[in-house]
Amino acid sequence: MTRSDLADDGVREQYAALRREVVALLEGERDWLANLANVAAAVYDRLDGLNWAGFYLLRGGALVLGPFQGRPACVRIAVGTGVCGTAVAQRASQVVADVHAFPGHIACDPRSRSELVVPLHVAGRVVGVLDLDSDQPARFDERDRAGVEALVAAVVPLIDWERACAL
Ligand code: SME
Repeated sequence: MTRSDLADDGVREQYAALRREVVALLEGERDWLANLANVAAAVYDRLDGLNWAGFYLLRGGALVLGPFQGRPACVRIAVGTGVCGTAVAQRASQVVADVHAFPGHIACDPRSRSELVVPLHVAGRVVGVLDLDSDQPARFDERDRAGVEALVAAVVPLIDWERACAL
């Protein structure tokens, strides 16, 4: 059975369980670095088919690598470039079925074939992104976009953004 055969309910429940786990992990802790590190680790561990999962945070006008799981990655990405910079510039999630077809895609890991990038909205501003990569083509669909957007919406209020991004 491929992942696209999974019933919508199954995918929704997978993301609901991940959200519950992440909220429990962060409960009572205010350290932004520890919390974002645990979110990246939970996402990478619980979702199948990922070869990279992590954060880029806006610092001094550019996206800078944050807590992640996977191979070492590009440190700085300009707003408006790559999938991550496009998500910030457009203030919108990017579901990329084939990274080779995305103009300006930044290949940190040549194994990556598809990508999902969700912006982090804090009080009307985008402060960074959560980036998921897969070595499978078309690993992410609208169900994943909705699931990761809901995860991010649950995580954002639990992070001390003033310390994370010097807001
Ligand atoms: N592919 C991303 C760069 C970050 S890596 O995937 C970890 C992009 O095009 O913005």
